Amino acid sequence: MLLSMTTAMAAHGAVTKAAFGTTPDGTAVDIYTLKTEGIEARIMTYGARVVSIKTPDRDGKVADVVLGYSALDGYLEDKTTYFGAIVGRYGNRIAFGKFSIDGHQYQVPINNNANSLHGGTVGFDKLVWQAHAVADGVEMTLVSKDGDQGYPGTLTVHVRYTIHHGALRIDYSVSTDKTTVVNLTNHAYFNLAGDGKGTILGEELTLPADQYTPVDSGLIPTGVLAPVEGTPFDFRKSAVIGARIHDNSEQLKIAGGYDHNWVLRGKSGELKTAARVYDPGSGRVLTVTTTEPGVQFYSGNFLDGTKFGKAQEGYGKNAGLCLETQHYPDSPNHPAFPTTLLKPGEVKHSTTTFTFTTHAK
Ligand code: BGC
Repeated sequence: MLLSMTTAMAAHGAVTKAAFGTTPDGTAVDIYTLKTEGIEARIMTYGARVVSIKTPDRDGKVADVVLGYSALDGYLEDKTTYFGAIVGRYGNRIAFGKFSIDGHQYQVPINNNANSLHGGTVGFDKLVWQAHAVADGVEMTLVSKDGDQGYPGTLTVHVRYTIHHGALRIDYSVSTDKTTVVNLTNHAYFNLAGDGKGTILGEELTLPADQYTPVDSGLIPTGVLAPVEGTPFDFRKSAVIGARIHDNSEQLKIAGGYDHNWVLRGKSGELKTAARVYDPGSGRVLTVTTTEPGVQFYSGNFLDGTKFGKAQEGYGKNAGLCLETQHYPDSPNHPAFPTTLLKPGEVKHSTTTFTFTTHAK
């Protein structure tokens, strides 16, 4: 049902809002459609999730390039993939769910082997956000109470999605009333060939990073910033994702493929290129820029065919890839990593853009 519609001037994106079902406790979920030249993105209030992104291929044929479900139920039932979601308070892992701030130890939920993943059992991906339309997009707001999932401080989070000529931009801003840790990201899975169209192993990836953060068997960074030089983690020059994924590398074996944080060149806080993906079949190119210091490239290793998505096919291993712009995993326990501490009176801003273009044959 179409509830309201605002169509701005020609140069701007059109933003429409519709109902997208209700959660088991009766909370209404809305979905916003943002449309402008070269892109249509749908974002819903459950988990502030990207539900679809439609872009043309090199011949102008439009396809949905993100994984997910056609209805809310699929998202409500799926507790493990984080399809399209904003994850928080802490995207990625915190070792044993433990960290200290000013001598006080905090324990957050253990939900991934011995560790805490993506903010705990009921992270931001599983909450209904408040939303209102803005120029070219939608702003989502969430207030997470002091003690939510064991984290200190009342956190006020604004995530603004806007579209601009083939691009989806995400602006985050977050503040607290008590010193806390925060690491927000978006967890969309992309397949530039189109949702449900095989694996991403034939797509070509560039990551402008000289180092990455190797992990232990629980996917927690060891603390070392290791050079990518001479390893299957070197994507400084574009490389086919599947070309080295089965190499005899301890790091690839631990994660069942790529599931690591790359240390981006340039300064934290400055918008810089984080990744580029090219699909030779369709000609689609995705360029990611971010103000964050790192990017988690996850090659969809844990997808196992048991989640039936929009295309009604089970999403198998490597059916999509994530490029999660972020601070490094487990930063609260690694003082040498860029800090994820947020203090009262500060507002942390962060921006990530996903731009879709095409490349001729
Ligand atoms: C993590 C993976 C995890 C996935 C959950 C990614 O951000 O790095 O290890 O399995 O999220 O869907």
